[in-house]
Amino acid sequence: MKIKVDSPHGTVWLRLAAVYFVAGVWLGIYMGASGDRSLYPVHAHLNLLGWVSMALFGILFRKFPAMGASPLAQAQFWLYNLGLPALMLAVTAIHRGYRGLEPLAGVASVVLGVAVLLFAVNVFRNAGN
Ligand code: HEM
Repeated sequence: MKIKVDSPHGTVWLRLAAVYFVAGVWLGIYMGASGDRSLYPVHAHLNLLGWVSMALFGILFRKFPAMGASPLAQAQFWLYNLGLPALMLAVTAIHRGYRGLEPLAGVASVVLGVAVLLFAVNVFRNAGN
């Protein structure tokens, strides 16, 4: 059987990474220009959990197609892409003074944490040669 050298899964992660990079950098530019640094945690996490982590997911899923073929990848994809936007929304609201979204931040961070655990299991199982 011919092994796939690419994974569409990886390409989707790379595109999402680029979207988060644009959002993270432009929020940084806004913070610098306005002098309003209050959303720096959102900026830092858009860049690190969005751009940097997603780009690494994309590169790994392309390098190891077995990771992309695993059901773990599917579950990680949806949990991560629900958890991260929800967390960013909640952290933005909290830093703007709406503390009512603290429970959402808690739930979203656990959802994101489960996605990261699934990713780690996938690396251990499928990121071999
Ligand atoms: C044009 C691009 C960027 C601009 C204009 C920018 C701007 C800023 C500004 C104004 C702050 C707040 C600093 C402060 O209040 O002390 C900040 C913090 C931060 N930025 Fe960026 N940033 C950019 C790109 C990035 C990228 C690409 C990353 C990560 C991959 C990143 C990660 C962080 C982190 C982690 C912090 C928090 C630092 C801390 O709390 O000490 N930034 N950035």
